[in-house]
Amino acid sequence: MEEKLSREEAWELLTEYTKTPALRKHALAVEAVMRHFAALASEDADVWGVVGLLHDVDYEKFPEEHCKKAEEIMKERGISDFYIHAVCSHGYGICTDVKPESPMEMTLYTVDELTGLINAVCLMRPSKSVLDLEVKSVKKKFKDKSFAAGVDRDTIRSGCEMLGMELDTVIRETISGMRENAEAIGLKGNL
Ligand SMILES: [Fe+2]
Ligand SMILES: [Fe+2]
Repeated sequence: MEEKLSREEAWELLTEYTKTPALRKHALAVEAVMRHFAALASEDADVWGVVGLLHDVDYEKFPEEHCKKAEEIMKERGISDFYIHAVCSHGYGICTDVKPESPMEMTLYTVDELTGLINAVCLMRPSKSVLDLEVKSVKKKFKDKSFAAGVDRDTIRSGCEMLGMELDTVIRETISGMRENAEAIGLKGNL
């Protein structure tokens, strides 16, 4: 990795391309979870967080060219290949053939879809909150394929395999990460 990208720069770039509140919340959720997993792995939470924040930077404007446009947008800004590779690798097997290689990339690949599932589970709860959400509630909805059908369970499973982590552990830690920024990601609910 060459030059470190600041959080401010990443946020500015994200919000320039992403106006939809739900997409901004998704970016913030993935950022929070990436920071949490970085801390668990004794890695640089600022770097992992920025990658989480930017991973869908092109999605609102270019959903058909997801990840490809992200590469262009980031290159234009002079952002290093380290970040570009990381962002692109979350679409592995879906919209890119860039394989997640580092623990950071494998984590992004795994938690991207999972934060979406957890978000959907929270919103149907009476509390509308992630703060009192239990792993078993997420597990139940993980198995119910008709629930949040757009969430690719196989991606989450293969991500857990890459990481060498149990699904339950990944769910638990993803919930913990989301709790750390519950208010901003709209999942504080009525608690
Ligand atoms: Fe994406
Ligand atoms: Fe995403």
